[in-house]
Amino acid sequence: MELTVKEKHRLLERYGAWAIVTGATSGIGLEIAIQLASAGFNLIINARGAERLLALENSLRVQYGVDVIAVAADLATAAGVEQLVRAVNGKQIGLLVASAGYGTSGLFTDSSLHAEVDMLRVNCEAVLSLVHYFSMRFCNAGRGGIVLLSSIVAFQGVPYAAHYAATKAYIQSLAEGLNAELKLRGVDVLAACPGPVRSGFGRRANMQMNMSLTPSQIGIPILNALGRRSIVLPGLLSKLLTYALRTVPRSVKVKLMQGIMGGMTKHQRVKG
Ligand SMILES: NC(=O)c1ccc[n+]([C@@H]2O[C@H](COP(=O)([O-])OP(=O)(O)OC[C@H]3O[C@@H](n4cnc5c(N)ncnc54)[C@H](OP(=O)(O)O)[C@@H]3O)[C@@H](O)[C@H]2O)c1
Repeated sequence: MELTVKEKHRLLERYGAWAIVTGATSGIGLEIAIQLASAGFNLIINARGAERLLALENSLRVQYGVDVIAVAADLATAAGVEQLVRAVNGKQIGLLVASAGYGTSGLFTDSSLHAEVDMLRVNCEAVLSLVHYFSMRFCNAGRGGIVLLSSIVAFQGVPYAAHYAATKAYIQSLAEGLNAELKLRGVDVLAACPGPVRSGFGRRANMQMNMSLTPSQIGIPILNALGRRSIVLPGLLSKLLTYALRTVPRSVKVKLMQGIMGGMTKHQRVKG
């Protein structure tokens, strides 16, 4: 899938000339970075792994003729977030795509607190810091866009991924509130809520990604929705699970999610 020429122009005019993409070396972040480069955005790209990041920097430069700055930094640390913000250094950034994030799964009582706090820092604290910094810059400029990666798990509690779902509920709420608040100052905020996507996510979260979409089926709907809507549910499954269950009581949705997530997690497969 590719953005239409019209969409490329719209995005570049509204949010160019530079975009910053976290989690740019894999999955959804990678797909969005490629689509933005193809639209002519110069990019600041971030992830922890320097090798993949430098390879991506090179390939985007060669393939699309755009400027690319790679910042290898761990967003679980304040130093990593600062390193990324420092890389901006006077560039005219108009778009933030905060895709870096990961999940954990299994019985909460079996989890490591250290690992859960690390996830909280990447999924929430780093996003808060970046959104705080860039929303002030964008408001001063009177223009800008912010894409936050929420999930279909954001809309109710999810047994066996309870803390991961809680981090996404935080992102969903932040995006919805900021969208209405910042719209008045020329800044668009989008909550992107995919269902299962085939990427590095499943391996790290120890989840089996059944009925999943590819990142290329996710990236374009997200970019097309930016500036037009406050929430996007890319793919049929995410729409079904969210809209079809809209009138179902929240406690029932939690039970449904228990069955779905139970089937996706090692916990349920082992314990039957
Ligand atoms: N895949 C799904 O089913 C799904 C569904 C709904 C929402 N989401 C959300 O979408 C976002 C992207 O997921 P994805 O599927 O694209 O996952 P992915 O393929 O695992 O990609 C994650 C990216 O984030 C980077 N990253 C991970 N930890 C980081 C850290 N501490 N600091 C900086 N970068 C870090 C990774 O690179 P390094 O490992 O090199 O750092 C990689 O580039 C996440 O926020 C996820 O919660 C995913």
